[in-house]
Amino acid sequence: SAGVSVAELKAVSATEPLLLNAVRGEDVERPPVWLMRQAGRYMKSYQAICEKHPSFRERSENVDLVVEISLQPWKVFQPDGVILFSDILTPLPGMNIPFDIVKGKGPIIFDPISTAADVDKVREFTPEEWVPYVGEALTILRKEVNNEAAVLGFVGAPFTLASYVVEGGSSKHFSKIKRLAFSQPKVLHALLQKFTTSMAKYIQYQADNGAQAVQIFDSWATELSPADFEEFSLPYLKQIVDTVKRTHPNLPLILYASGSGGLLERLPLTGVDVVSLDWTVDMAEGRKRLGSDIAVQGNVDPGVLFGSKDFITNRIHDTVKKAGKGKHILNLGHGIVVGTPEENVAHFFEVAKGLRY
Ligand code: CP3
Repeated sequence: SAGVSVAELKAVSATEPLLLNAVRGEDVERPPVWLMRQAGRYMKSYQAICEKHPSFRERSENVDLVVEISLQPWKVFQPDGVILFSDILTPLPGMNIPFDIVKGKGPIIFDPISTAADVDKVREFTPEEWVPYVGEALTILRKEVNNEAAVLGFVGAPFTLASYVVEGGSSKHFSKIKRLAFSQPKVLHALLQKFTTSMAKYIQYQADNGAQAVQIFDSWATELSPADFEEFSLPYLKQIVDTVKRTHPNLPLILYASGSGGLLERLPLTGVDVVSLDWTVDMAEGRKRLGSDIAVQGNVDPGVLFGSKDFITNRIHDTVKKAGKGKHILNLGHGIVVGTPEENVAHFFEVAKGLRY
């Protein structure tokens, strides 16, 4: 018969990164593993770059530095996913929202958004024009990593981006964005729509330039009640997924929302392929609540990496057992914490890569 033989198909899929095969529900020998914030401040090699290049914007907007930093964990640990070194705020200047990341203070938005006129000034994002270094870095990463791992892109979710630009930076009580949501919802919806259109385009751009899966970070969505999540986050996430799937039906999309235990049943409604769980959810219970169609990622407490090597080993085994065979990407429940011993990260990867179902 015409077409490809099973053997040929297998040969093709064998050249695909493990992470992609696992997400698609193929028969894999172990869960793929990468760690959120695997590139960054816990690594001495990163600190050395920070000394030479103290500006975060420079480190994340210069092709050579982006590639070098993204590859630092790859060279030492060989994770199954290599995430682009960047930030969820990186697209903002291209949308006419200048920002900086200040040591000890975190992200700063110089002109926070509070009115309809402010929202009118926000431009839709054209990635090729504003962040060509992202496309160039992804293309180089694909060549360097050569399908031995999946190259991962990422974006911020509309509500999380809106919370930064309305609050002016990180926030504790989210009072400014809630004031906007609950007194001028139309203004917030207009802003969320601009982020939605822009981030859908940005995901497509990342995929066109080499990203093999893209994670959407909705870090602050869980500051919303479930009903408010349904109004201010879910429809926009769904719109992003629908838009991207129209042009890139096979691009796996991963959704991370920290503290999402109260929202789990709603997350698959976005249409994403993978939900990334934090450690406050039991992995076995999370799996059940999410349903069997969707893959899961996570969810070891980043604090576990401060434990002994045996302790780390046990927690990995526990998580993998609870996740069950297949459709699982082993990861932390949130990013690696500053100060985490590099040798413990090395141990995490060694144990994880030695696992067999
Ligand atoms: O995972 C990776 O290795 C890729 C790099 C990455 C960074 N930021 C680099 C970074 C990723 C995926 C992000 C995403 C991001 N940025 C999120 C979503 C993930 C999450 O943690 O929920 C959020 C909310 C941001 C916004 C942001 N950027 C914050 C809150 C901070 C920390 C501020 C601080 O000073 O602690 C940043 C800065 C930032 N982005 C750092 C890194 C490595 C630390 C600053 C530095 O290295 O100089």
